[in-house]
Amino acid sequence: MEKKISDSKIEQVYQVRPEHLNGAGRLFGGRLMEWIDEAAGLVGIRHSQCNVITASVDNLRFIRGAYQNDLLVLAGRLTYVGTTSMEVRVDTYVETLDGIRRPINRAYLTLVAVDKDGSPTKVPSVILETESEKAEWEAGKRRRELRIQRKKEGF
Ligand SMILES: CC(C)(COP(=O)(O)OP(=O)(O)OC[C@H]1O[C@@H](n2cnc3c(N)ncnc32)[C@H](O)[C@@H]1OP(=O)(O)O)[C@@H](O)C(=O)NCCC(=O)NCCS
Repeated sequence: MEKKISDSKIEQVYQVRPEHLNGAGRLFGGRLMEWIDEAAGLVGIRHSQCNVITASVDNLRFIRGAYQNDLLVLAGRLTYVGTTSMEVRVDTYVETLDGIRRPINRAYLTLVAVDKDGSPTKVPSVILETESEKAEWEAGKRRRELRIQRKKEGF
């Protein structure tokens, strides 16, 4: 089976509330990581049509803070697939009331599709439609090689 990147992309919107803040009055990073993990998981489920588990998170980059009442938009899309694994990019933005988005975080996560017994299972391949999807795919291939190398070195 083959699927398009657009078949699984998602956007989630949250409003930052008092219980999401840390002692410095900013959005708590751990809360954002949870939302990023959930967003990536949903992309993985939509693509694989299976349950998924998070194998790794990398390049999680906090670019700016977010504050109470900010509207956060998490945009998730598939960037690369292997045999049973999928790389998902999640971009987080603060959106102003007039709709302007400023990036505050970017992360790449690797999800593995699992069957009923929890064993890794094959995921659909991908039809790349745009130049940016093709460029992201090539970069995803390089990131996968780096991850394999890091795993070998125990790093
Ligand atoms: C993810 C997991 C299933 C991989 O197990 P494994 O024995 O390495 O399995 P495999 O060798 O069959 O690898 C399965 C896929 O995971 C990928 N993978 C394994 N370790 C990885 C890592 N650290 N980072 C990225 N991808 C990884 C492999 O490259 C492979 O991808 P491919 O099929 O596309 O080539 C296993 O490490 C695990 O269960 N981890 C715990 C996950 C978890 O509980 N997450 C918690 C939150 S849900």
